[in-house]
Amino acid sequence: MKNLIITTATAITFVFIMGCSVNSKVTSTETVQNLNENFKVPQDVKNVLDNSCLQCHGADGKFKAKLKFNFENMAEMDNTKLISKLSKIDDVVSEGSMPPKKYVKKNPSHALTKADKKIITDWASSLAEEIIKR
Ligand code: HEC
Repeated sequence: MKNLIITTATAITFVFIMGCSVNSKVTSTETVQNLNENFKVPQDVKNVLDNSCLQCHGADGKFKAKLKFNFENMAEMDNTKLISKLSKIDDVVSEGSMPPKKYVKKNPSHALTKADKKIITDWASSLAEEIIKR
C-alpha cells in the first residue's frame, strides 16, 4: 500500500513537472512572437546611438535614463509601444534635448553632429511610418 502511494505520488509529480515544462514552452513561443521583427537598426544608426546615447540608455546605462528609454528593450516592444518610443526619439533629437546639454558640455566628443541628428531622426520617423503602414 505504501509503495502504491509513493508510486502514485511520483507519477503525479512527474505529470505536474511535464505540465509545467509544456506551459513554459508555450510562454517562450509567445515571447518569440512578441519580439518585434519590425525593429531594424542599420549600422550607421547603431554607430550614432553607441557614441551618444547608450552610455545612459544601454545595458550598462543609468537607472533613471533606462526607466524612460531602454534601448535594449526596443526589440521586445509591441508595435504601438515601439512607434511611441521611436517618435519620442525623433522629438528629443530634433529639439536637441538629448543627449543632455550638461553631459555634452563635459563630453563634447559624444555630441550629435548635424549629420548624426539626421541619421537618427530619418531612421526613427521612417521606421515608425513603415510599421504604421503594415
Ligand atoms: C548622460 C545620460 C544620457 C544620454 C547620453 C542620453 N540620455 Fe536620453 N535620457 C537621459 C535621462 C536621465 C532621461 C530621463 C529624463 C527625465 O526623466 O526627465 C532620458 C530620457 C530620454 C527619453 C525619454 C523621453 C520621454 O519623455 O519619455 C528618450 C526618448 C531619450 N532620452 C533618448 C535619447 C537619445 C536618442 C540619446 C542619444 C542621442 C540620449 N537619450 C542620450 C539621459 C541620457
